[in-house]
Amino acid sequence: MAEQSGRLVVVSNRVGPLSDEGKAGGLAVGLADALRRRGGLWFGWSGEISDAGSSSELKTETHGSTSLVTIDLTQDEIDGFYFGYANRSLWPLLHYRLDIASFERSSDRVYRAVNRRFAERLAPQLEADDLVWIHDYHFFYMGSELRRASYDGRLGYFLHIPFCPPEMLTALPASHDLVRALLDYDVVGFQTEGDRRNFVAFCVQELGAEDVDGDRVRTSDGRVVRASAFPIGIDAEGFAEFATSEEAREHEAMVNDISRGRHQIVGVDRMDYSKGIVERFRGFEQLLEDHPEERGQVQFLQVAPLSRSELEAYVDLRNELEGLAGNINGRFATLDWNPIQILVNGFTRRALAGIYRAAQVCMVTPLRDGMNLVAKEFIAAQDPADPGVLILSRFAGARAELPEALIINPYSTDDVTRALLQALKMPLEERQRRHAAMRERVFRNTAQNWCETFLAVLDAPAERDLQPRSW
Ligand code: G6P
Repeated sequence: MAEQSGRLVVVSNRVGPLSDEGKAGGLAVGLADALRRRGGLWFGWSGEISDAGSSSELKTETHGSTSLVTIDLTQDEIDGFYFGYANRSLWPLLHYRLDIASFERSSDRVYRAVNRRFAERLAPQLEADDLVWIHDYHFFYMGSELRRASYDGRLGYFLHIPFCPPEMLTALPASHDLVRALLDYDVVGFQTEGDRRNFVAFCVQELGAEDVDGDRVRTSDGRVVRASAFPIGIDAEGFAEFATSEEAREHEAMVNDISRGRHQIVGVDRMDYSKGIVERFRGFEQLLEDHPEERGQVQFLQVAPLSRSELEAYVDLRNELEGLAGNINGRFATLDWNPIQILVNGFTRRALAGIYRAAQVCMVTPLRDGMNLVAKEFIAAQDPADPGVLILSRFAGARAELPEALIINPYSTDDVTRALLQALKMPLEERQRRHAAMRERVFRNTAQNWCETFLAVLDAPAERDLQPRSW
């Protein structure tokens, strides 16, 4: 095995937790694991808003060889960087929703300034042999800014969300700057081959770069950047254990109490327009409409914790979903049966694992999704002897690893309805066969493996020798 470099330095907008009290998602578990092994720091936003701006203090929390280092943002920064550029421009655009993306010069300016401020605060903390790993769409420019602040070590970037085709991305006024900034990293990672292809196509068509061997890009000034897909996983063992914990059993029992022998369908998503929840509700409604024999036999629970609720698109979505659920209940409910329920509160991960385990069917039907870890968590939480059925959108990154799910086009209500019927009637032997194949992959490609694979590439001598540094 190659000799390991120094510390790991992770940068993401949301940080931690470093210890798992049942709240950490797969990503945090994978990163915390790698941080513990290598020592290092995790740098990001404190979650606090303060007026101090560039003079705000760094907050440091140390656990053994690892520190969480965070800074506050000002209200103007939150508005321009987080709500504005990250979530009104980049999030919809990269999820193929040019129709609702908005582009404001002032947000672009604040976004770049926050990337610069983060880099300037982080640079003095870095050591020459650190591996620096930047995450997600909040920090496209962070690598270039670290270079500008004279950091000369290894720099990797991973995009957790989709990368849309160049034909769409070029609508973003500063799309060239944004993608050129990715070429300042040594390794750029994507969730799927499709995302990687879109990125390379942009570099070739728009920036005059060259595609080398399918996993590298040579820029017009001769730099070589590694660009590959690294599909993310979950902590499968940990999540499977959650599913048999006491808290999970309590939640499983609660769901069973409410469903009283009816088939239980679940959906679990942040309330976000990319998740296809509206289309899912329509598919469920059509099931009840076209198949009267299913009325009173099925129940749908949608868990949809609120997210980014200050943004209009998210307020509109909540109103639309509550309206749709109200209509469905209004049309079909009986004295002892409410077909559909939405819960907007969050659950602990143990509780969620119990809810998954109580379900006969899980609907993961995003219109576009980088990976979608709910699909993998549902598989890990099932009882292999009597597993539930996964309905999965063809537009989720997870589709590549989970082809035994019922793969649907979420835009087609008929497709959703057909898959629901098939799932509800699927014989035990077929459920076991499909589940076993998916479970094997979910347990093989874990969050920990994902993390180590990326870091091994970032740290590989071959990658280091690609070009002399010109900074
Ligand atoms: C997605 C993004 C993450 C983000 C999360 C929650 O999974 O890829 O970077 O942290 O959504 O969104 P929020 O805006 O609440 O951080």
